[in-house]
Amino acid sequence: MEARNIDRIAVLTSGGDAPGMNAAIRGVVRTAAYHNKHVYGIYRGYEGMINGNIKRIETNDVGNIIHRGGTMLKTARSREFYTPEGRQKGYESLQAHDIDACVVIGGNGTYTGAKIFSEEFDFPMIGIPGTIDNDIFGTDFTIGFDTALNTAVDAVDKIRDTADSHNRVFFIEVMGRHSGYIALHAGIGSGATGILIPENDKTIDEMVHQIKKGHKRGKLFSLVVVAEGNKNGGASEIAKAVSEKYKDIEAKVSIIGHLQRGGAPSCHDRVLASRLGAGAVDGLLKGIYNKSVGLINDEVVYSDFEDAISEVKEPKQEMIRMAEILSM
Ligand code: F6P
Repeated sequence: MEARNIDRIAVLTSGGDAPGMNAAIRGVVRTAAYHNKHVYGIYRGYEGMINGNIKRIETNDVGNIIHRGGTMLKTARSREFYTPEGRQKGYESLQAHDIDACVVIGGNGTYTGAKIFSEEFDFPMIGIPGTIDNDIFGTDFTIGFDTALNTAVDAVDKIRDTADSHNRVFFIEVMGRHSGYIALHAGIGSGATGILIPENDKTIDEMVHQIKKGHKRGKLFSLVVVAEGNKNGGASEIAKAVSEKYKDIEAKVSIIGHLQRGGAPSCHDRVLASRLGAGAVDGLLKGIYNKSVGLINDEVVYSDFEDAISEVKEPKQEMIRMAEILSM
């Protein structure tokens, strides 16, 4: 797509929220204001685009939000945007506000919508990776991952106290429908006995073997961190299977769930989000369209939507192996 004159930039958040999205919105609005461009907020993701829920946002509107979790623009998972009719309505709303380009903040689904939309209407879009799952190609970290991790580790530390007091085995489920990043990092960071993630094929029996090996060494409690998308099922299913087969193990369950998506963003996420927000606007003004902005080796980089969507980003096998060695 040839470079356009961009004066009015829309921004939306879509899919699961992630702590730091507000800092990214702030980065977009203030960088645009610096270049004398106007920003319009689209409320509730692609739903808001379809329904014309679009309002001007100015520098002052993004004051006092850098430290807040959630997203001031709200978010949604839009079914209608999957349809050509839905996208047509979205395009008409953007035209009604004379919008020249759009920044979308979200995960894989958000990027897929943006890619189709930009191709269909020859419309400049740019994506900022905002998901706690850290599973987007083209960036070392996604916005929200660090905060979610710290929340998860804090929870596992607390469970450790009670597991230790009662000599219990706990299966602790963290988010990650398709990705083991949160479980792997939280498992390493909390010194877990075991980690079950979609990227390893450890069975329940192998995990129990690992737990029992620890017991033989005099370790009286165990913490197993389970990614919701691992191959053996959720923590409840796993604990049930363990208790049924191994009568000497009292398996307890804790599901951390949406706690991981909320709360004040960590400083790491605020800085990352600020850089990516600014990077998105800088990119648009340089004629960089239909790409995802990311941070690799501390540099702002741009990857095609196509790659960001289709390339798989997984935890390194070397790190999975190291976690195994350290957990013993
Ligand atoms: O944001 C990503 C994610 O947290 C996944 O890890 C999880 O499976 C999913 O969102 C849950 O989303 P929702 O709360 O919208 O059902």
